[in-house]
Amino acid sequence: MRKNIVAGNWKMNNNTTQTKALINDLKGALEKVSANCRVLISPTSINLTSAVEATKGSVIEVSAQNMHQATSGAYTGEISANMLQDVGVKTVILGHSERRTFFGEDDTMLTEKVTTALENNLEIIFCFGELLEDRKSDNHFNVVESQLKNVVLALNASAWKNIVLAYEPVWAIGTGETASPEQAQEMHAFIRGLVEATYGKILANNVSILYGGSVKPANAQEIFSKEDVDGGLIGGASLNATDFTGIITAF
Ligand code: PGA
Repeated sequence: MRKNIVAGNWKMNNNTTQTKALINDLKGALEKVSANCRVLISPTSINLTSAVEATKGSVIEVSAQNMHQATSGAYTGEISANMLQDVGVKTVILGHSERRTFFGEDDTMLTEKVTTALENNLEIIFCFGELLEDRKSDNHFNVVESQLKNVVLALNASAWKNIVLAYEPVWAIGTGETASPEQAQEMHAFIRGLVEATYGKILANNVSILYGGSVKPANAQEIFSKEDVDGGLIGGASLNATDFTGIITAF
C-alpha cells in the first residue's frame, strides 16, 4: 500500500550553519511526536553532505532538488546522479515548476533526467501542475495529462517503485493561495486514474501522490484527509521546524 510522505523543499535557502540548525530543531520537534509518514527534507546541493550527516539516526531522509541528466562530463555547475548517491542521497525532486520556468526544463529534458535517476537507483519526486491561465481556461486536466504522459507514464511499470508524484498547481506555489481540498482530491483522483489506465489498479493504488502549494499547519489536515492525497511537498512552511512538524503531524 502506498506511503504517506511529507517532503520539505528548502529551495535556495539556508547556508550550512542554518541547515544544521534547522535539522537539529526538526529532530528535537520530531522526538516529541510520532510521525505517521515518511519525512524528507531537500537542502541545496552544497549542503546535502552536511544534511545526510546531521540526519543520521533520525527518521528524516534527505533528497536533492535537482540533478543533471548526463552521468558526467563537461557540464559546468551541474551535479550528477552518482554524486548524489555517493553522499548518501537516495531521492531527487525533478520537474519542479521553478526548474521548468526559470531553467527551461521541458518534457524532453525531464525524460532524460528521470531515466538517468532511475538508472542510478534514485527515487524520484516528479513534480507537475498547471498555470493559473490553464485552470481559468478549464485546461488543467489536459495540461497535467500531457506532463505525465510525456514523461513518467511512458516508463515501464517496473520503474514505478521509485516514483512519487507531486501535483503542484503553479498558481498555489509560494502565493499563499492553496487549491481547496476538493480541487486537490479531484485532480489527484484524475492522476491516479491515468496511472491505473496505463498500468492497472494495483500499481495505481501503490503510488503516493503528494499535493504542493502553500500547505501550512492550518490547512494540512484537511488536504491530507482526502482519499487520493498522500502527503505534501512543502516549500515555505518547511523552513521552520514548528510549522513543518505541524504539517507532519497532520497525519
Ligand atoms: P510553497 O512551495 O509551499 O512555498 O507554496 C511548494 C513547492 O514549491 O514545492
